[in-house]
Amino acid sequence: MSSTGNGAKVTVIGGGHVGLPTAVVLAHFGHEVVLAESDPARFEMLQRGESPIVETGLEELLSDALRLGTLRIARTAAEAVGEAEFVFLCVPTPQGNDGAVDLSFVEAVTDEIKESLRSGTIVVNKSTVPVGTAALLERVTQRIGIRVVSNPEFLREGSAVADSLHPDRIVVGADDPADAQKVGQLFAATGAPVIATDTTTAEAIKYAANAYLATKLSFVNALADLCETVGADVDALMAGLGHDKRIGFEFLRPGPGWGGSCLPKDTSALLQRAEVVGHDFALLRGAIAQNEDHMERVVQKVARASGGHLEGAPIAVWGLTFKAGTDDRRSSPATEITRRLVRAGARVSAYDPTVPDNTGESDLAGITVVPTAYEACRGARVVALLTEWGEFASLNFTKVAALMETPAVVDARNLLDPTTLRSLGFSYEGIGRT
Ligand code: UDX
Repeated sequence: MSSTGNGAKVTVIGGGHVGLPTAVVLAHFGHEVVLAESDPARFEMLQRGESPIVETGLEELLSDALRLGTLRIARTAAEAVGEAEFVFLCVPTPQGNDGAVDLSFVEAVTDEIKESLRSGTIVVNKSTVPVGTAALLERVTQRIGIRVVSNPEFLREGSAVADSLHPDRIVVGADDPADAQKVGQLFAATGAPVIATDTTTAEAIKYAANAYLATKLSFVNALADLCETVGADVDALMAGLGHDKRIGFEFLRPGPGWGGSCLPKDTSALLQRAEVVGHDFALLRGAIAQNEDHMERVVQKVARASGGHLEGAPIAVWGLTFKAGTDDRRSSPATEITRRLVRAGARVSAYDPTVPDNTGESDLAGITVVPTAYEACRGARVVALLTEWGEFASLNFTKVAALMETPAVVDARNLLDPTTLRSLGFSYEGIGRT
């Protein structure tokens, strides 16, 4: 594609959860990639071939690409874009105070690079942005011949490399179909279908996907609550649903509520946007409210298991990240539930394989973080399993019971086997399990 080699000249701005997997995978596909990372500590790590985030397979691809010279790390966006045919924007779009998206990083980086872009460069926005942002960015660049294309990202944390190598689809929104085709071509090696559309629709697809997934999970968690009330078993219920091909098994696992850096932020942004344009998206509002209530129900389960109150109660927590396979605690239901336990007066001892003990991080204020799952249980009245780390299923539960004040488990991920635990003298409560 480039005039000098087989691959295209691609710059990726932002070495975070989206930018870093995107950069290494594009390099793996044979493109000449420059990754711009402005954070000095992250820059140094990346230079050494170390990944600043926990992602299966990422470090291997990073080291390979650096060794082969298909990837170079740059300190600033401006110095990284000079030669680029394609510039991917992968910068954070956090939630603003009113629930709407804060576009300041996207705008700042666009402003920073606009003078350095060569004519004909296609700016590809991967950051999740409100409908209409591509058009806005084109106005910010104020340069004839620079086009902005939307290419929303659907990768999941923890499986970001696999998702990038084998995506279900590539969505490209562009004013000019030829630009959409060029961007789609960058991912030809994936063999995934390319959905070429206008920028507005591409931006809307990202929100629609995440809103759908969140709504599905709220539905599943609401069904699990109903199972508890009517005495049905959620595991069999989900098997009964999942085998229906129109429903499928994906996103059918009940849990402590959905979280992470995307689902909560994107559903709030879509709801806020709908309100602004006068659309009452009651279904989505209901899904968000159900999620809030669901986390509270888990807190109440722990309170019941601890004898009806949490004031002064010694509680063990297993898992703090928003799901297994990541070190991310942003909008983590596990962390939120743990904080609520602390606010209710519980003395919480928590363990998570990605969180060092005595971390002192502000989101964990009031929580004692310890180095092992066993250590967390010492003297505990209840253990609350909040993240589905596989290691929790293979613990020695005879030893766990011996360490605890009373052997009681609230398994908010339905990870453990109730029969085995009850046979060892545990009281067991899952989510929607009989
Ligand atoms: C999500 C989207 O899946 C991805 O396409 C998008 O690009 C970014 O947002 P991610 O944030 O990595 O990805 O998390 P995901 O794996 O989707 O899980 C979201 C939440 O739902 C987590 O809290 C997870 O524990 C929960 N979940 C997921 C369940 O409780 N049950 C399930 O069956 C699946």
